[in-house]
Amino acid sequence: MKLEKLLYHQLRLGRREARRVLAEGGVTVDGKTATDPLLRVDEFSLVEHEGRVLQGKQRRFLMVHKPAGHVSSVGHHQHPTVLDLLPEDLREGMHYAGRLDLTSTGLMIVTNDGKWSRRLTEPERDVPKVYRVATARDIGADVLERFAAGIYFAYEDITTLPAELEILGPREARLTLHEGKYHQVKRMFHAVGNRVTALHRERIGPIELDIAEGRWRDLSDAEVEWVAAG
Ligand code: URA
Repeated sequence: MKLEKLLYHQLRLGRREARRVLAEGGVTVDGKTATDPLLRVDEFSLVEHEGRVLQGKQRRFLMVHKPAGHVSSVGHHQHPTVLDLLPEDLREGMHYAGRLDLTSTGLMIVTNDGKWSRRLTEPERDVPKVYRVATARDIGADVLERFAAGIYFAYEDITTLPAELEILGPREARLTLHEGKYHQVKRMFHAVGNRVTALHRERIGPIELDIAEGRWRDLSDAEVEWVAAG
């Protein structure tokens, strides 16, 4: 919103008054004197009037190591949520940048900044997501090529983007996806006659899971910047 509108909401200053207060240099935005009434501010802009904070939420960017049995929704009647793993005062206004199924484990990214999370999840961005997969049956020799060619999903009438499979053992692999369709990994293995028994997300772009199950940490400045810059 425009700065003059915020001054109206916060201080009940009319347009003329707001412009006068701004011209006198009584308002700062993110620590700098702001004189332009049309300056765009959002909920994260720190706006102060004569030293008094009018608004300014802190942006938060976290990684969480999701255990199996936690849901990646904001509230659930039956299961604990991934947000429940955070201290209570950190949960408000937070959302997930991408989800994992109830039984899946691994890297989840949680933030209160919708603009930032959209940059991470928008399809055009092509952020690779890397999964460790265990399967019920041996992974056939042809699966590598089939995943690279794309798997047809009749329900959506789409073919998945080329995905890279690295075989780690007869029933174990690392799979890199460049999109995130509903239950994508499980459905891809189902399409080649196999079944996923364990699924763990190791990495999203350059952001690598490096904390124990059930724990969380703030993303580093470099991790946050990588998303914002893309
Ligand atoms: N693909 C799935 O099938 N499940 C997940 O949780 C993530 C990707």
